[in-house]
Amino acid sequence: MTTLLSRKKCGILGATGSVGQQFILLLANHPFLHLHAIGASERSAGKRYKDCVQWKQSSPIPGEHEGLVLRACKAENFKDCDLVFSGLNSEIAYELEMDFVKAEIPVFSNAKSYRMNPLVPLVVPLVNPAHLGLINFQREKLGLKKGFLVCNSNCAVVGVVVPLAALQAKFGPIVQCEVFTEQAVSGAGYPGVSSMDLVDNVIPFISGEEEKLEVEAQKILGSLNGSATEIDAQTDLRIGATCTRVGVTYGHIAYVSLRFKNHPGPSVRQVEQAMMEYQPELLKFGVSFSGPAIKVFMEEDRPQPRLDRNISNGYTVSVGRIRDGGKDGHFDLRFAALSHNTVIGAAGSSILNSEIAIIKGLI
Ligand SMILES: NC(=O)c1ccc[n+]([C@@H]2O[C@H](COP(=O)([O-])OP(=O)(O)OC[C@H]3O[C@@H](n4cnc5c(N)ncnc54)[C@H](OP(=O)(O)O)[C@@H]3O)[C@@H](O)[C@H]2O)c1
Repeated sequence: MTTLLSRKKCGILGATGSVGQQFILLLANHPFLHLHAIGASERSAGKRYKDCVQWKQSSPIPGEHEGLVLRACKAENFKDCDLVFSGLNSEIAYELEMDFVKAEIPVFSNAKSYRMNPLVPLVVPLVNPAHLGLINFQREKLGLKKGFLVCNSNCAVVGVVVPLAALQAKFGPIVQCEVFTEQAVSGAGYPGVSSMDLVDNVIPFISGEEEKLEVEAQKILGSLNGSATEIDAQTDLRIGATCTRVGVTYGHIAYVSLRFKNHPGPSVRQVEQAMMEYQPELLKFGVSFSGPAIKVFMEEDRPQPRLDRNISNGYTVSVGRIRDGGKDGHFDLRFAALSHNTVIGAAGSSILNSEIAIIKGLI
């Protein structure tokens, strides 16, 4: 299907940051997205990408992108793009992204600014692409023809909601979930957390992260109503979270304990099977990622960030340590989930969301 699509010109806002650099890598040789324009702050505008960026990736800047000249992130500078991806900091994103949308440029955002806005789909492509159905109503409300805004979730949320979606599809509602995370330093952007704070240490707090995990998961796992005007959040799923920062470059681990509504809950074997067989709706669209959505590890010391974060180029969520909640315990099930925070946790999700929107004829 993808080979029949005409190429779309895309831009990246915040192209020099952690998320922006991942966009630069993932858009190289893309089958139907052509990276046409890149933007960053006024400090960087006018300079060639390779002369300006503090490149922190383990593979080199793709040759086709290294000579692109950075533009200031103003909507009038990106009028020649069919869509833009945003890796802007949330303080800036709030105003700038809406300027782009009002200029009729579709925006796929990684910032938190509009994630909980009732008009904005919050889409983890491996879970809820159907929420893109809200776009027509958003356009109607904002008086737009071509522009719209789609957000993807906080990077720690992705590793949790993908396995939860697989479990709920097979075993019915989950009513309670307790999450403990160990999050990579790149999740704080560059230069992020000082090495003096991070080496030989764990930081037991990430500002705002626990609240995001609790509410964003409910919205993502909710459903679009019949008139496609609202997302009904899954509010009867209670989530508690503790988020920590550790000295890992890429890859967030979430340790999840949960309770199903229906008892008795599934066996460990049934859970492993359900996760291995999970076929997200996204795979029906013929996007550039063909799965698996979840890789299940039977080894008791996996997944590990360094070994497993790059499975399927960082698009697959790895799950391991699946075990029952313990005799007479409060929870039915426990597991660990690893996700690449700048691929499926950020840029990769935005790219897949845009691919679905293109295939659905929304762009
Ligand atoms: N890192 C992750 O794992 C992750 C995951 C999911 C979501 N997010 C979210 O994604 C966004 C980007 O995160 P990040 O980690 O990539 O941040 P970052 O490394 O700090 O990068 C920020 C980018 O924004 C640009 N910028 C800063 N001020 C600007 C301005 N006034 N006008 C235009 N551009 C400006 C910077 O350009 P200059 O180089 O010119 O300063 C840089 O390209 C944030 O909202 C973050 O919460 C991050």
